[in-house]
Amino acid sequence: MTSPFRLDGKSVLISGAGGGIGQSLVRAFRDAGASVIGADREAGMLKGLDLTGQLLFDQADAKATRAAVSRYLQEHGLPDAVVSNAGFTKAEHLGQVDDDVWASELAINLNGAYAMTDPIVAAMAERGRGSVVFISSVNALGHFGNPAYSAAKAGLVAYSKAIAVERGGEGVRSNVICPGSVRTPAWDHRLAADPSLLDNVLPHYPLGRMVLPMEVANAAVFFCSDAASGITGTVLPVDAGLTAGNLRFVDEVLRGK
Ligand SMILES: NC(=O)c1ccc[n+]([C@@H]2O[C@H](COP(=O)([O-])OP(=O)(O)OC[C@H]3O[C@@H](n4cnc5c(N)ncnc54)[C@H](O)[C@@H]3O)[C@@H](O)[C@H]2O)c1
Repeated sequence: MTSPFRLDGKSVLISGAGGGIGQSLVRAFRDAGASVIGADREAGMLKGLDLTGQLLFDQADAKATRAAVSRYLQEHGLPDAVVSNAGFTKAEHLGQVDDDVWASELAINLNGAYAMTDPIVAAMAERGRGSVVFISSVNALGHFGNPAYSAAKAGLVAYSKAIAVERGGEGVRSNVICPGSVRTPAWDHRLAADPSLLDNVLPHYPLGRMVLPMEVANAAVFFCSDAASGITGTVLPVDAGLTAGNLRFVDEVLRGK
């Protein structure tokens, strides 16, 4: 009997496939037996990945994103699952946010993710089957900096629940993964500014380490598999315990470390 955790014969579209978490998503879905269509903003980002199809769009441009995805669906058909993973932030705190920054981080992380996912969800509902996963962030659950990005990532939680509630009757499941800090190229600019920054990150994490890209990817594979067939509308932190409580409060105030 085939394991319900396997995805043999299934296809998945992954955005931001060339990024740190994206590359692990590609590997994890391939290892589970799925074929993978990779999306990113430049062909160079997808080079060397084990993909059956590719599509390119700038997710900051909602119209171009929707058009590229709709064209792909017309020409190649509808995947069994989609992982909305592309994302970006540079504005670390409120002092770095203004109208333009707010608009651009919302455009990439929320509006573009909607434009990418919406035509797929509509086609999945028509087909009567499909699974959607959003890579959000712990920033959607509490404030850890990056205010505009956080608002967008919280918006993804609301959007995912809308899909789960309104499209569940048509066989579409939608779930959200909220990673904690993951050492990917998204951290390069921070580590360039302060190479010892990770020493300040680790005391916040109950597991004493950052999350690995593959740990995020494994959760996405689970959500898209039949093992999660009864699970929709959920929000899963993959965060090495960050949102379980405040370890530094316990260490510094109560344990006197
Ligand atoms: N790394 C972390 O600490 C962390 C924590 C929580 C959530 N996340 C989320 O995980 C996801 C993946 O992040 P990552 O750490 O792999 O970052 P990354 O920078 O390595 O990858 C991001 C990917 O998104 C793509 N992308 C960015 N802007 C785009 C645009 N305008 N159009 C199309 N594609 C675009 C990039 O090309 C890249 O492939 C993001 O949504 C991010 O917000 C990351």
